Amino acid sequence: MEIRASKGLQGQITPASDKSISHRSVMMGAIAKGVTLVDNFLMGEDCLSTIDCFRKMGTEISISGDQVKVRGNGLHGLKKPQELLYTGNSGTTTRLLCGLLAPQRFQSVLDGDASIRKRPMNRVIEPLIKMGAKISGINGGYTPITIEGTQLHGIEYPLPVASAQLKSALILAGLYADGKTLITEPKPSRNHTELMINGFGGKVSTQENRILVEPTEELYSCDLTVPGDISSAAFFMVAALIVPNSEILIKNVGLNETRTGILDVLQAMGGQIEVTMYGNTIEPAGDILVKSSSLHGTEIGGSLIPRLIDELPVLAVAAAFAEGTTMIKDAEELKVKESNRIEAMAAELTKAGVSVTTTEDGMIIRGGCPIHGAEFESYQDHRIAMSMAVLALAAEGSSRIKDPQCIQISYPGFFETLKSVQR
Ligand code: S3P
Repeated sequence: MEIRASKGLQGQITPASDKSISHRSVMMGAIAKGVTLVDNFLMGEDCLSTIDCFRKMGTEISISGDQVKVRGNGLHGLKKPQELLYTGNSGTTTRLLCGLLAPQRFQSVLDGDASIRKRPMNRVIEPLIKMGAKISGINGGYTPITIEGTQLHGIEYPLPVASAQLKSALILAGLYADGKTLITEPKPSRNHTELMINGFGGKVSTQENRILVEPTEELYSCDLTVPGDISSAAFFMVAALIVPNSEILIKNVGLNETRTGILDVLQAMGGQIEVTMYGNTIEPAGDILVKSSSLHGTEIGGSLIPRLIDELPVLAVAAAFAEGTTMIKDAEELKVKESNRIEAMAAELTKAGVSVTTTEDGMIIRGGCPIHGAEFESYQDHRIAMSMAVLALAAEGSSRIKDPQCIQISYPGFFETLKSVQR
């Protein structure tokens, strides 16, 4: 994909639907009683992997446009899959399914693509074993993972990492346990699972950093509309900020507070960003107006990290165009995403002329130097590919993004949307 320096980005867009919420809508719908209608579902490859896994467990799921209809068979209604459950590139599908499958009354096997096979699964396997699960991976905790469903017990578990996937796996397992499960988080991570389970009639309560899961007899279907993904909107926010003569209105973006760290950081960097909330819904949403701005460097760390973990690659691009130094710290989790995002971003930014130093838990970016186009690798990582596409819009000359098809994971239509705002 070739991208040239842009003269300005203008107009209105609606970003791809939220990936995290789309995954969870199918999972909850499948274990609830009744039909769940999900509007504005993300038809990205990751969420289609989730649909595929549940179809293999006997859940009837139909797709019409961007609407998904899930016919749930109740908490104990999943059936033993006749084949391996293939989770593709999706960490969310893989980890949440570990938690959901551990208490079922059947055996199952999970596996994914080459990237999934490198991602640590011990973080879910170990606490699930503490709950009584019969679950094992290979080579010390990688897929393929074999699960022999069994009765689980509630536990008290302090999460060693702030991970919503890990937390959600334990919450799902806790729904089936014979006692309460108490999870403590080191820092708050996205809470879509908690909100959705309560919407489906379950009982998950949160007090500060403690999440209490009560076992449930049944969940009940609940229609929902998925808001836009702030992680996808992020590419257009940064693009509008760094390309001169730009003004983009991004409509219907999910604004759950556990996800809005990017707004705090870009505003702290001097970005002109106005947010209009739509009103009080379970998953808040609103519009974001972004205008070209002179940015300055900042420090990103601590409890901000889980609130913007997926936006760090594109924030690194914003930092490259900001005056002064930006330091990203406490973000070692970036090493175990779809790619090692610290190494990947440092290598690609360096190709464009940016001065970057990697650290154990992040990177230091010295911004404000001339940035030029180049041939960029995607590392088969959707967020690296889109981040470098954004950089290319504001770099001198033209660039090429290699293997851009991985963008289908979370943002089918990314390039079409980009084209629609090009002036
Ligand atoms: C997600 C949680 C995050 C995030 C991922 C989606 C989720 O992962 O990076 O893209 O839907 O729960 P971790 O739980 O590994 O932090």
